[in-house]
Amino acid sequence: MLEGVSKTALFTLRARAEEHARKNRRFADPDAAAWLETLGWPPELDEHYSDWIQTKTAIRTAQIDRMVTHCCAQFEVAQIVELACGLSSRRQRLGFDRAWIDLDLPEVIAARERLRVRGEHHRHVALSALDPAWIDAVASAAPPAQTIVIAEGLFYYLPLDEVEALFAAMRERLAGAVLIFDVIGAMDFEAAKRFHTQIEAPIHWAAPPPFEAAMHASGLDVIEGLEPDALLDEALREIQTFVARAVLSAFARVKMFRDRRSGTMVGRLRPL
Ligand SMILES: C[S@@+](CC[C@H](N)C(=O)[O-])C[C@H]1O[C@@H](n2cnc3c(N)ncnc32)[C@H](O)[C@@H]1O
Repeated sequence: MLEGVSKTALFTLRARAEEHARKNRRFADPDAAAWLETLGWPPELDEHYSDWIQTKTAIRTAQIDRMVTHCCAQFEVAQIVELACGLSSRRQRLGFDRAWIDLDLPEVIAARERLRVRGEHHRHVALSALDPAWIDAVASAAPPAQTIVIAEGLFYYLPLDEVEALFAAMRERLAGAVLIFDVIGAMDFEAAKRFHTQIEAPIHWAAPPPFEAAMHASGLDVIEGLEPDALLDEALREIQTFVARAVLSAFARVKMFRDRRSGTMVGRLRPL
């Protein structure tokens, strides 16, 4: 059984497994379904899981998949690193056949090893994302401009000063790489804090509004075709329930809410 913040990997695994089983699914993910079946779902987490978590996770996952596909279509991608990979099956879903590194804390990597997640050009790394050793290994394996680093569901679990130090190290050693990560917006922070405290995986910070300025301050340059506004509109279109889509789209037109939104940031890392 995974503990603390690592337990959250079961929530996202379940969300993808359920997405796979839906008639109107956004993506197929047979590995997620099989891994959930093997690992089992701890019944005590039931009270914290909801349809909304399933929907949000599936939309985020589908959007990050599309970002990666977009990058692979636009330029050469030699390696992909998934920080805090949890029980992600993104490599299998996308069928990426070049170097792929899945990094997480040792107990999560041990769970993946037990599931026999293997593949050609695939490596597991049991390390904290805050340990700069992975940056050196990645920087020396392929040019940063051909590297994508994904951190889905990670940075807000870590103290802000440590995340800032990590970004500085990435901008020093991996400038030009594509970085994809999600943030919790100021609008959602209090509710997210309550939820994550209940599941014993506290979160530490929210992105300071406005969203685009926070993305720029993180050291990301916008990639053509992956502009923040277009990505927000795309995520809203992915909500399949008419009423929820209409309400959230109306909110998104109001600048105060748009600026304080949660979402996924993507861009090329600027040198420091
Ligand atoms: C919400 S899960 C996300 C997992 C996966 N990215 C996904 O979307 O399914 C959070 C993950 O962050 C990992 N994590 C937390 N702190 C970490 C750290 N310092 N370094 C690496 N991984 C970490 C946890 O072990 C867990 O797998």
